[in-house]
Amino acid sequence: MQQVLPLAGVLAAIVVAVSGANVTDPLSHVNLFIGTLNGGNVFPGATVPHGMVKVGMDTDGNNFAGYDPRPEFNVTGFSQLHQSGTGGAVPLSNFKLFPIPECFAFEQCLTTIASRKTLRNILPDGTPDDFASPGYFSTNLSTGVRVELAATRRTGLHRYTFPANSTTPRILLDVTNDGQVSGIMPTLNIDHTTGRMKASGNFATSFGPGRYNAYTCVDFQGEGYSFKGPTEWGPYKINYPDKNGVDLAQHYYSYGSEYGGLLSFPPNPNGGPSTILARVGISLISTAQACKNAESEIDDFDFDRVVSDAEGQWRDILSRVDVDTEGVDAEMVELLYSSLYRTHIVPGDYTGENPGWKSSEPYYDAFYCNWDTYRTLFPLMSLHDPENFARIVRGMIDIQKHEGWLPEAREAGQPQFIQGGSNGDPILAEFFVKFSDHASALGVSADDLYNALLADAENTPENWNIQGRQADVWKALGYIPSDTTYPGGANTKQVSRALEYAFDDFSISQVAKILGKKADATKYVSRAQNYHNSWNPNITVPDVTDVQIAGFFQPRFANGTWNYTDPRHCSVNDPTKATCFLNAIRRDGFYESSPIVYSQYVPQDTANLIELQGGNERFIERLNWIFDQNYFDSTDEPSQQIPFMYHYANAPGLSTQRSRQVIATWFNTSLSGLPGNDDSGAMASYVIFYLAGLYPLPATKQFLLSSPYFPRISFYNPLFKTTTTIKTINFVANPANGTGGTVFVKSVKVNGKPYKSSCYLEWDVFTSGSTVELEVTDDINVQCGNGKNALPPSLSTGGYD
Ligand SMILES: *[C@@H]1O[C@H](CO)[C@@H](O)[C@H](O)[C@H]1NC(C)=O
Ligand SMILES: *[C@@H]1O[C@H](CO)[C@@H](O)[C@H](O)[C@H]1NC(C)=O
Ligand SMILES: *[C@@H]1O[C@H](CO)[C@@H](O)[C@H](O)[C@H]1NC(C)=O
Ligand SMILES: *[C@@H]1O[C@H](CO)[C@@H](O)[C@H](O)[C@H]1NC(C)=O
Ligand SMILES: *[C@@H]1O[C@H](CO)[C@@H](O)[C@H](O)[C@H]1NC(C)=O
Ligand SMILES: *[C@@H]1O[C@H](CO)[C@@H](O)[C@H](O)[C@H]1NC(C)=O
Ligand SMILES: *[C@@H]1O[C@H](CO)[C@@H](O)[C@H](O)[C@H]1NC(C)=O
Ligand SMILES: *[C@@H]1O[C@H](CO)[C@@H](O)[C@H](O)[C@H]1NC(C)=O
Ligand SMILES: *[C@@H]1O[C@H](CO)[C@@H](O)[C@H](O)[C@H]1NC(C)=O
Repeated sequence: MQQVLPLAGVLAAIVVAVSGANVTDPLSHVNLFIGTLNGGNVFPGATVPHGMVKVGMDTDGNNFAGYDPRPEFNVTGFSQLHQSGTGGAVPLSNFKLFPIPECFAFEQCLTTIASRKTLRNILPDGTPDDFASPGYFSTNLSTGVRVELAATRRTGLHRYTFPANSTTPRILLDVTNDGQVSGIMPTLNIDHTTGRMKASGNFATSFGPGRYNAYTCVDFQGEGYSFKGPTEWGPYKINYPDKNGVDLAQHYYSYGSEYGGLLSFPPNPNGGPSTILARVGISLISTAQACKNAESEIDDFDFDRVVSDAEGQWRDILSRVDVDTEGVDAEMVELLYSSLYRTHIVPGDYTGENPGWKSSEPYYDAFYCNWDTYRTLFPLMSLHDPENFARIVRGMIDIQKHEGWLPEAREAGQPQFIQGGSNGDPILAEFFVKFSDHASALGVSADDLYNALLADAENTPENWNIQGRQADVWKALGYIPSDTTYPGGANTKQVSRALEYAFDDFSISQVAKILGKKADATKYVSRAQNYHNSWNPNITVPDVTDVQIAGFFQPRFANGTWNYTDPRHCSVNDPTKATCFLNAIRRDGFYESSPIVYSQYVPQDTANLIELQGGNERFIERLNWIFDQNYFDSTDEPSQQIPFMYHYANAPGLSTQRSRQVIATWFNTSLSGLPGNDDSGAMASYVIFYLAGLYPLPATKQFLLSSPYFPRISFYNPLFKTTTTIKTINFVANPANGTGGTVFVKSVKVNGKPYKSSCYLEWDVFTSGSTVELEVTDDINVQCGNGKNALPPSLSTGGYD
């Protein structure tokens, strides 16, 4: 029901009796298929929150999470490990199972991907017959087999229902075909009395150097009938099953061949369809451990119980964000909960599965990459999930203790490519700034955390492409020079790295301050200002005459002279059509965004950036120009904060409108509802903040404030056991295209008292569980307030002291 207002712009602060459209089950609002097209690379299969195992359908499309929703793509198998929202090469997708309802004889079953792959059933509307909800996935194959998937942390449970006419239901385990078809050194052992198959292989990582071993242990049971074991069994190579074999010893190993195992099962003796359950334990340690994981996590083969346990875990996390939906389009509710769901798929809890060393600390893997997630994903965790956040931080610190460096990108125990600075720093700092008082209760050692930060800040690694940062040069020059004379990593993205090193150092300064390390705090605050060394005030944009825009971050050589780069470089308007992707041979100076975008990236001191850019008016003009000329890039994280930057120029209404236009233009609930990669939930977390009318600055205690899309949004924090509620007085409706509307924040009350700013909230509002009431207007020219603390903090204006 939409409230109809007598007048546009009702200013009276009347608290209406709160309406009643509460969400009863957040799970019913989660659409797992958003972003499975259009390069979102979203994983729509079965997993528990932060599960290591993510069981899903693989198709012959090129979605990096395995699944393609387009009906013409064939199903190649149902594999156990996936990432969500990543680029690089197709990751993981190990140990595909595949059902074969009928072949002429065991030895003649066709087992390679090319010969076994099959389409799904297509529904009358032309879409494939797939279904997914948190903790569950199902599909109907054109062969008549129904496939259902469920998962616990390290074990998948598959349910294959073969059609009644399948006289010999068969299931194969594909050992070598991971997502990159990179498996070598396969092992397979079949226990023909029970059908247990143990297998392993060695596989390529997908975003950097290194390979990893993975192990599986698969057991089978009938559902609705029982059998002792398979009626036929054997390993296969290519399309040649070896009947009655039990391992690969008879096979002539050759690189690039397809290996696996095939079992035949007795059909349902009662007639009708035969349902066979496959329990698939996974480990990065050994097949024995894979069996142990499976036995301990799913001893009962009870598919429905496994699904409902997973749903319980999802419900627990998703219901911590709660909204009143009165007057809100159903799509926005779906967008909110689907996005929230996607922020809890990775990193994965691989505790007990660390191939590198033994430790009693938690072990998280699948960071892909911190450069994406430090900005909004971890600040969102601060609001509603500090316990998982603490475990992730403990795991990161443990990695630093053993490898010398915090993880940046990581897959199956292997460090992968770094995209920016040492972006583990703002993640640890975000945790510590928000939870220092609870760190030890949450198992996080302040000393170890601080030492891990210092290692990034002070030590130069052998290869800064995968660990740490180019610290020696940073310390010596205060910028990263373009000269290619420094060993230790690719001499590229020097400017974007320098800007991030400055922010990383800012985040360390905030931790030092809390720990009472005054000298360190001063030192890192000073290094946080090194961005000045890359600022060249004399650079203008060629061909721009209508606005006065001068000053950009630019590459420099070690001798201090500038290495001019057109500010449009790597933007949609770049006349040379360059890209700034990860590639050592391109000495771009900037990564995945233009100098224009990076010239807005000094989150620790936006007040100073405004000065560098000529004051509030010029700054606003520049921001407008960035949007009008399409320099804002919705697909890449460096642009994420730009819509909210008007706040710092005391024009928060413009932020509200821009951020809402961003949502209206680029984020929706369709299969193509993401403008690009979800980046391990980074984009999803960004959407949630925008819908909540908030934007975080990691490693600080402030959240920029706008208006939520809901009359009420609440965050429950299980650590503090408090609920913080943001209410909009006289909520009207969300403008469909993000433009205009009665959505501009005019004044703010916290627990009934006028608040110091209508542009940001302090962290203590969230720890104590406050009620925030927003008075909104249709006048876009609102401001932050009159007091001296009305503008959001910046280093140069004494913020963060
Ligand atoms: C909706 O939730 C709010 C806050 O939890 C509560 O005050 C209100 O009574 C609920 N409304 C209904 C109809 O349950
Ligand atoms: C699906 O498989 C069929 C049969 O092999 C093939 O003709 C078709 O091109 C495949 N579809 C795609 C999208 O590759
Ligand atoms: C698959 O077929 C079964 C009936 O055999 C049906 O219940 C189910 O809804 C269909 N679709 C999916 C995605 O499971
Ligand atoms: C078996 O039944 C399924 C549907 O239930 C059908 O798709 C398939 O063609 C049938 N196979 C044979 C060999 O009749
Ligand atoms: C910018 O131009 C002014 C005037 O020509 C000059 O004094 C100044 O050194 C230049 N700044 C840089 C960083 O090149
Ligand atoms: C500075 O270094 C660059 C690159 O090495 C070189 O091209 C340039 O001539 C040097 N300029 C001066 C003034 O030394
Ligand atoms: C910057 O310097 C490098 C050499 O260090 C050179 O290859 C590159 O073309 C220069 N870039 C620009 C935009 O001048
Ligand atoms: C949904 O989002 C996608 C990705 O940004 C965009 O291309 C598409 O136009 C949007 N669709 C609608 C109806 O807004
Ligand atoms: C947005 O919608 C409003 C009201 O429906 C309309 O007046 C306005 O022209 C639209 N703006 C844009 C940019 O489409």
